[in-house]
Amino acid sequence: MDIGYTEAQLRAAAVDAVRAPSLHNTQPWRLRLRDGGIEVLADPTRRLPATDPSGWGVRIACGAALFNLRMALAVAAIPARVRLRPDPAEPDLLARLVPDTPRRPSLAEQSLYAAIPRRFSNRLPFWPDRVPADVRWRLGEAARAEQCWLELLIGVSAVAAFGEIARSAHRVLERDPAYRAESERWLRREPAPDGVPASAGGPQGEPQDVLPTRGFGGRDRAAGRDFEPEPLVGVLGSFGNTAVDQVIAGQALQRLLLVATDAGLSVSMLSQPIEVPTAREQLRLSLGRFGTPQMVLRIGYGQPGRPTPRRDVNEVLDLPAVPA
Ligand SMILES: Cc1cc2nc3c(=O)[nH]c(=O)nc-3n(C[C@H](O)[C@H](O)[C@H](O)COP(=O)(O)O)c2cc1C
Repeated sequence: MDIGYTEAQLRAAAVDAVRAPSLHNTQPWRLRLRDGGIEVLADPTRRLPATDPSGWGVRIACGAALFNLRMALAVAAIPARVRLRPDPAEPDLLARLVPDTPRRPSLAEQSLYAAIPRRFSNRLPFWPDRVPADVRWRLGEAARAEQCWLELLIGVSAVAAFGEIARSAHRVLERDPAYRAESERWLRREPAPDGVPASAGGPQGEPQDVLPTRGFGGRDRAAGRDFEPEPLVGVLGSFGNTAVDQVIAGQALQRLLLVATDAGLSVSMLSQPIEVPTAREQLRLSLGRFGTPQMVLRIGYGQPGRPTPRRDVNEVLDLPAVPA
């Protein structure tokens, strides 16, 4: 079918798109309506030059927003056909969605969609309960459904070996004053429509932690309130590492996060070992996987929490001018 999307349909879906996660909650996306197609664009003004020099994080975030858009349109019975990076002359244009044949949403689409407003990064310690095998399988399926892979690190020694790589990447990053300044600049101690609220930052890291935590102004923790001793760590990877592969990985990340939310799980992300090229390569070799790690997730059963703020959708929309 060749009738395009309307402004009202874009506005409604945009509310869900912007719920996607992004590095430091920068929300580095724009949504445009052109010739009846909804377009997802990277917003270069919201890239973090020190933390994300290559724009990897922007493309992951935009891929996640694209996944939410796909679910919102599917649930509205106006599913999309997607082309990634449709115009080489416009590299910031990451995806174009045009209406596909209308159909009823599947049950999976409905439950993924319902999880969008409930998902948030939970940086608190999780309960020690194990994630059952069938739920682990669903997480792997989520990555595979989006042409990616998920490697779950099983056992204390695998997690400890990963922890070494992650902590060393964390130390490398922390040595860079520009990187530290960026984390500080996006930390919000007062209510704000972007950035990481201090209340969502999780507790301060401590020397005994297996995994490094990004310092988002979190509180010191009481004695004995340590992180779970054997966290379930998942590494999400793609088969290539082009800009398109990173948008694909962003979609896989969001599907995985929504499947986890739907299964009652909490997740936090840690990307230090992705951001430091030598650490990323070490991680890749340690997994023995073909492809490129794109994100690391800590998965478990957590305390309830709250979604973080987003900018008004009007700030990210680019609509055709109304003729005078
Ligand atoms: C590419 C990328 C990298 C991220 N890296 C980290 C990280 O290293 N540590 C962390 O605590 N959160 C990380 N996050 C999570 C963001 O901080 C989080 O999505 C954002 O603050 C919005 O909050 P929400 O996930 O609760 O909606 C990352 C998210 C993305 C998309």
